Amino acid sequence: MNLIELKQINKQFAGQPILKNIDLVVEEGDFMTFLGPSGCGKTTTLRVIAGLENPEGGIVRIGGTTVADGDKLQFVPPAKRGLNLVFQNYALWPHMTVMENVAFGLQMKKLPKPEIRAKVEATLGKLHILDYKDRYPSELSGGQQQRVAIARAIVTEPRILLLDEPLSNLDAKLRVEMRSELKRLHRELNTTVIYVTHDQSEALTLSTKVAVFSEGSLLQVDTPRNLYRRPRHVKIADFIGNPKINLLSASYSQENEGTGSTRIDSPLGSISLQDLIPPGKGKVTLAVRPEDMTISHEPTAQAAPFQIYAVLPAGSETLIQLQSGDTGLLVKEIGEQDYVLDSTVWLNIDPRKLLVYDGESGELLSL
Ligand SMILES: Nc1ncnc2c1ncn2[C@@H]1O[C@H](COP(=O)(O)OP(=O)(O)OP(=O)(O)O)[C@@H](O)[C@H]1O
Ligand SMILES: [Mg+2]
Repeated sequence: MNLIELKQINKQFAGQPILKNIDLVVEEGDFMTFLGPSGCGKTTTLRVIAGLENPEGGIVRIGGTTVADGDKLQFVPPAKRGLNLVFQNYALWPHMTVMENVAFGLQMKKLPKPEIRAKVEATLGKLHILDYKDRYPSELSGGQQQRVAIARAIVTEPRILLLDEPLSNLDAKLRVEMRSELKRLHRELNTTVIYVTHDQSEALTLSTKVAVFSEGSLLQVDTPRNLYRRPRHVKIADFIGNPKINLLSASYSQENEGTGSTRIDSPLGSISLQDLIPPGKGKVTLAVRPEDMTISHEPTAQAAPFQIYAVLPAGSETLIQLQSGDTGLLVKEIGEQDYVLDSTVWLNIDPRKLLVYDGESGELLSL
């Protein structure tokens, strides 16, 4: 079921367009992540859904009910939208203890005291902050406060949970631990989550779907797997994946009239691809993930030679930096690998793993 629908949402601040024709569907049970660099409109979109901002144009529907309609000025206030929000800058009540902060929403619902206590303690336990239950927010670190804010939002088991960078104050180790907790919570609570982050690896690990923002527009809404394997825009290919994808300028031309095969010339050599690009010739960008190439000590068909520039062991894998003229490439191999510096090698690339992008628009051209 479509739980949240955004249609042609437009939002301006001081005459500047901030959200541009945002179309988005969040289905019941999704863990939807808004991903994109700072200032691209993630928080603003979340605030439009929550009802803290009213769009100038477009429609917001929650559970089939229209809660905002830019043209008709229809507007359902935040408290009546059935959702809970944890802000980027969470605000705990300073005069209440952790226990009281988290219990507040349940007290409003007039639950019996023992039940409130049990629920709050269970939630604090899940977030590893039960020991701090009698402290005041000022006696907690930023990361602990952030977890209290999450506890306060989930303890009432809302139908929709909006989380704006809820892990931003945690150290690297705790961030990774909290990922598993959030994933479990999503399952256990049966909640629909919208989650904001600019951390691509967090987005890939947590989400059922990811919405990639760029300058107020949506570039792609897809599963983490598709986003990684078939990024529809070169900007997404460049943004998703660590180590980064290799991007190479290339040109294409038709091999033989009528055969439907295209020749792509790049620093990798000449590669033939089938049914790819409109007839003619022009510029493209080739993208290939570091793990989608292997190094060969023998020349491979039509492949260009590279030199080993650096070998970077990283425990369970080895990154190998290759160089040919001005072109640098990164290859990732599993396990410990060793190569002689400056020796000449060739690359094996499965053409099906190559992504080809229009040199002008950046749109994906591969089938
Ligand atoms: N109340 C406001 N008044 C004016 N401009 C605003 C307002 N709120 C946001 N903006 C602008 O809108 C743009 C999008 O802001 P938004 O907070 O949605 O970005 P974001 O993607 O959440 O970024 P970050 O990752 O840094 O949190 C920014 O350029 C920001 O300066
Ligand atoms: Mg933000």
